[in-house]
Amino acid sequence: MTHDVVPRLRLSDLVRTFPGRRGEPLRVLDGISLSVAPGEFVSVIGPSGAGKSTLFNLIAGLDRPTSGRIEVDGRDATGSPAHAAYMPQRDLLFPWRTVLANAALGLEVQGVRRAEARARVRELFPRFGLAGFEDAHPFELSGGMRQRAALLRTVAQGRPTLLLDEPFGALDSLTRMELQAWLQEVWAEHSWTALLVTHDIREALLLSDRVVVLSPRPARVTLALEVALPRPRGIEATTGPEFAALERTLLEHLTRAGRPVG
Ligand SMILES: Nc1ncnc2c1ncn2[C@@H]1O[C@H](COP(=O)(O)OP(=O)(O)OP(=O)(O)O)[C@@H](O)[C@H]1O
Ligand SMILES: [Mg+2]
Repeated sequence: MTHDVVPRLRLSDLVRTFPGRRGEPLRVLDGISLSVAPGEFVSVIGPSGAGKSTLFNLIAGLDRPTSGRIEVDGRDATGSPAHAAYMPQRDLLFPWRTVLANAALGLEVQGVRRAEARARVRELFPRFGLAGFEDAHPFELSGGMRQRAALLRTVAQGRPTLLLDEPFGALDSLTRMELQAWLQEVWAEHSWTALLVTHDIREALLLSDRVVVLSPRPARVTLALEVALPRPRGIEATTGPEFAALERTLLEHLTRAGRPVG
């Protein structure tokens, strides 16, 4: 990233400790520092239980760090939810609401009137491959469509930063590849700053400007790898020697930490 612009997001020495089960505190985040430039796409990868979702909950303002600070555009935003749209790891669409009503929920929670929220969200349906499914219920959608609907709900909030915690985790690999290509396209059309949690090294390399690796708990940043591959990145990009070298670096780094990647 370039360092002469004010970062969209600056995390300084974030520590999060939970009360442990037997009285000893559980230290989950052990001083996470990271700056993300406006428009940058950063993936966070690390062992299961490392603290990735904990970190995203802090950035989303749903939880406060035990110590440390979060700045947005140079201003303190620790504990503030206003700057980011968050798609949590288990993002559920309400089964009794239509896709349109589900997608408008984020805006309604922000205080936008229902009719206006639905009108704004309706315009996004074609780009999310969901035109014609506005009045369907979630059970009528495929897994990939459900994930796109959950992403639509996130994006519809109109926040400058997107926080996506394993948005494609539960999908088969073909659907996943389609959605990765699609996300790359819509990201390029907008000026979103995006942070993505994934366990998938290829997904991280395909989508990101930088990949940040966390250690096993308590989590620290052990590597921030620049991905300077040209965009858009298609199948060809993922089969070239540069991609393979980056993949290998990440894989070696993750296995050296002594834990499986998943
Ligand atoms: N509210 C909480 N209270 C107590 N402990 C918590 C709380 N939230 C998370 N933890 C603990 O923090 C640790 C990290 O959890 P977290 O969900 O952040 O991991 P993760 O990296 O997202 O894992 P995964 O890849 O499996 O999603 C776990 O040991 C978890 O039990
Ligand atoms: Mg998680």
